[in-house]
Amino acid sequence: SRTLTLLGIESSCDDTAAAVVRATGDPKILSSVVIGQTALHGSYGGVVPEIAARAHAEKLDDCVSEALDRAGLALGQMDGIAVTAGPGLIGGVLSGVMCAKGLAAATGLPLVGVNHLAGHALTPRLTDDLPYPYLMLLVSGGHCQFLIVEGADRFRRLGGTIDDAPGEAFDKTARLLGLPQPGGPSVQAAAAEGDPGRFRFPRPLLDRPGSDMSFSGLKTALLRERDALVAAQGGLYERDRADMCAGFQRAVTEVLAEKTRRALAEYLCLAPRHPALAVAGGVAANSSIRAALDAVAQWAGAAFVAPPLALCTDNAAMIAWAGIERMQIGLVDDMTLAARPRWPL
Ligand code: KG4
Ligand code: ZN
Repeated sequence: SRTLTLLGIESSCDDTAAAVVRATGDPKILSSVVIGQTALHGSYGGVVPEIAARAHAEKLDDCVSEALDRAGLALGQMDGIAVTAGPGLIGGVLSGVMCAKGLAAATGLPLVGVNHLAGHALTPRLTDDLPYPYLMLLVSGGHCQFLIVEGADRFRRLGGTIDDAPGEAFDKTARLLGLPQPGGPSVQAAAAEGDPGRFRFPRPLLDRPGSDMSFSGLKTALLRERDALVAAQGGLYERDRADMCAGFQRAVTEVLAEKTRRALAEYLCLAPRHPALAVAGGVAANSSIRAALDAVAQWAGAAFVAPPLALCTDNAAMIAWAGIERMQIGLVDDMTLAARPRWPL
């Protein structure tokens, strides 16, 4: 069979991205362009949907041209166009879908709608040739869930967060302590200097069976400790910030590790031939969390697969790859492809 080469387009959150990926060969990723919007949203303390949508619409064409240029290929040399059709901010998703439809209409190439979460979940097959089924922990600023990935279009959802995603909790913690955004890296850096035992933060839902998680109580606890300290000593010292970050990070790490242990136990009941735990999402960059998950995987006799960070966070190579996998099993879309703000796997 012929080697498929796809153009991928991603615009569901605050990154505008395009990539060219082929089904086999080394490398499979011929180009991957990501244009971030952090500078645009920085002063608002979050992503502003209207600003995001306008920026996507303005940058998509250039992003696609750049991806094709870097790959050294013309649009006509693609075998299809994959685009994130949801879930996400509707303005951004719509911009991407319209862009992809325009290109498909102009060339007659097949159009493949991809679920953004499926893109993340299939990434370990792009980087590591991982066989199905594997267990995926998706942890980012917007998502937190366990999935048993059984096929390009077959996902079994185990538990997930019932409120905030861990990345969101890291970002809020940074904000509460006056540390820079994004919170993950700055909280991790501060935690490295701190004593995780000084503050005792809650481990929500550990007493309950299953792999559901909750992270919103952590920031409430943190706020309480912070305000108590400020009231007692008139402010926060460097030491206090470091200790709070260390305590917070340890709590998140322990919850994720224990829930992963349970999800692994459920997954292992399927008797996979090559058991594996894979991670994706920005929070998978955290070295404390990574080490804990690696240890849990080892304990369970499963391989631990963590794609390079640039492929763990939002990008279009994962969308092109998911498009390739869908095309390989005959799943293509047409001009009726809809943008979906909500789209559970
Ligand atoms: O996957 P991602 O780039 O975007 C989405 O949320 O879709 O993840 C971003 C999140 C942010 O909340 C950021 O604070 C978090 O990942 N993050 C980290 C670290 N690096 C990034 N969280 C903890 N530790 C890190 N080292
Ligand atoms: Zn994402």
